Amino acid sequence: MAEVIVVSTPGSAGTLVADHISSRVEQQPQFVLGVATGSTPLPVYGALSERANEGVDFSQVQAFALDEYVGLPASHPESYHSVVDREVVRPLGLSRELVHVPDGALGSIQTAGERFEQLLAASGGVDLQILGIGGDGHLAFNEPGSSFGSLTRVKTLTQATREANARFFGSVDDVPIHSVTQGLGTILRARHLVLLAFGEAKAKALAASVEGPVTSSVPGSAIQLHHHVTVVVDEAAASELQHRDYYDWALQHKPSWQGL
Ligand code: F6R
Repeated sequence: MAEVIVVSTPGSAGTLVADHISSRVEQQPQFVLGVATGSTPLPVYGALSERANEGVDFSQVQAFALDEYVGLPASHPESYHSVVDREVVRPLGLSRELVHVPDGALGSIQTAGERFEQLLAASGGVDLQILGIGGDGHLAFNEPGSSFGSLTRVKTLTQATREANARFFGSVDDVPIHSVTQGLGTILRARHLVLLAFGEAKAKALAASVEGPVTSSVPGSAIQLHHHVTVVVDEAAASELQHRDYYDWALQHKPSWQGL
């Protein structure tokens, strides 16, 4: 079962997760961090940039993004190349050559998945993967129905996902239809998954992922197959969880030697 930590604000989730990542990086400077994009992980990146300003050295950390839009130039402000550069690479002081985002260029799309899997394998694997979740239960851009064994490949976005992401573009019509995304099988290889969710709009998908049946109809439920998952959510995102009392009890009695 995943450890579920309910916090009062996204800011406190950011602090909790960033403190954990920072101490891991201090022990292991060549830490491999899996980064998500979207709004959810921003408090973590904000808190990590504070740790960088306080002197934590992230320059040897390797980072792997979950996904990228197909056909959007890397220089587009909403490409995940740009977003990762803006929100993670620059504020944390990562070394650009150690940061990898799937290649969404149309001309080389056929080999994008395989090339990204090779880079991941060469890194020795992701130590900690930050995850957000879609309102429809998607993880990365693995939409409902995605195989639990899937690797990095091209996926068609659902209309619901395009509408949710329209806020980053002028209109829904400007949101690309395809993405290159790590598969659920890729994500499950990371050594530690940290799933974040904030707000009521995520409550149903979160509860289905943490407590519902394991089914490809809810890609987030793939986390139940992983041996080390930490779920950090606010009260609103936790509101549909059935075993909330148990999570709080377990956290209250957590042994001091057990980390995140
Ligand atoms: C982004 C990603 C997506 C988002 C999800 C939630 O790299 O993989 O799965 O995590 O769409 O997005 P936000 O955080 O914007 O609600």
